[in-house]
Amino acid sequence: MYALGTEPNGTENKTAALFDVNNLSVQINGQGVSFNVVDHLSFQLMAGESLAIVGESGSGKSVSMQALLGLHAGNHNIAVSGSVHLEGQELLSLSKKDMRKIRGERISLIAQDALAAMNPSLTVGFQITEPLMVHRGMSRKDANRRATELLDLVGIPAAASRLNDYPHEFSGGMRQRALIAMGLVLDPDILIADEPTTALDVTIQAQVLDLLNRLRKDLGMALIIITHDMGVVARVAERVLVMYSGTVVESGGVREVFRKPVHPYTEALLRAMPRMDQGDERLFSIAGFPPTPGQLPQGCRFHPRCHYARDECSQAPAPLLEISPSQATACRFWAENITEPRQETKRA
Ligand SMILES: Nc1ncnc2c1ncn2[C@@H]1O[C@H](COP(=O)(O)OP(=O)(O)O)[C@@H](O)[C@H]1O
Ligand SMILES: [Mg+2]
Repeated sequence: MYALGTEPNGTENKTAALFDVNNLSVQINGQGVSFNVVDHLSFQLMAGESLAIVGESGSGKSVSMQALLGLHAGNHNIAVSGSVHLEGQELLSLSKKDMRKIRGERISLIAQDALAAMNPSLTVGFQITEPLMVHRGMSRKDANRRATELLDLVGIPAAASRLNDYPHEFSGGMRQRALIAMGLVLDPDILIADEPTTALDVTIQAQVLDLLNRLRKDLGMALIIITHDMGVVARVAERVLVMYSGTVVESGGVREVFRKPVHPYTEALLRAMPRMDQGDERLFSIAGFPPTPGQLPQGCRFHPRCHYARDECSQAPAPLLEISPSQATACRFWAENITEPRQETKRA
């Protein structure tokens, strides 16, 4: 829907998206039970664009990224359906071998647990140069030169002398930068960073987010940033998808969503964001918990936690409705519920 621009003469100008995810669903099949943890997720990403996917823990963000990269292939308990097109090519039907190539060369994932999972027994330099030698057939000397450039690019001082360091010799922030360098090693068109700054303190977090943004612009790649924190969304993304319980409940441009959220869950996430400009680090938390997959409430999945909820909300499901060319909401009562634009928040 975001690739549709309206020309002044009223005709639709359909620009091809780089990445087009349609009705992606992930079903978990356990002993005698089966339920969806991702339910008809659709989005498009244009070349060079930055998109945030935000939602509380358990909303299906990581699972969707793993699914669209074919990482559940061969797992008999997990069924992935829908379509994922990269420049028109369907990824979900690719062989494991071809998919591995896409993951290496076109779409790069910095996994949520990557910082903790970094191999402690291999030098940082080895972890960056290996894909260059394997995928690009580079000599060790050329690969070392490229690795130094990459560490330099992500802001590691005296990069050449750090190649032989082990991950534990780097600080947390430097390790995250090295992981980003590893993500960039094969010049991907899309970098997916899953909660890349959650383990870092606030100052370092801001530096790493600014780095991702700068790299996106300098290298012309698209960025998908996964987070539970609206502050991260404000800092890096142009567009945002808000996920709740495996579905998108709101999508739109970051500016418009911050100014006027049109789903009560988005509004609650924005209230849960620490306001650094007010020196207020206290978190407003959203009352209650997301539903357990497999035990979803009837009607709108958010209604048990929604302070605007009315009888209808527990009866009929809540499909995503386009309310403007750029913004969509899964709340039928958005126009009545959220009437006041928010005060402009000073971005974190
Ligand atoms: N391999 C798996 N098997 C069964 N359930 C899973 C698996 N991976 C994730 N889930 C469930 O899917 C839901 C979404 O998880 P996840 O995508 O990790 O959430 P998020 O990244 O938004 O925090 C959770 O309820 C989680 O328990
Ligand atoms: Mg996750």
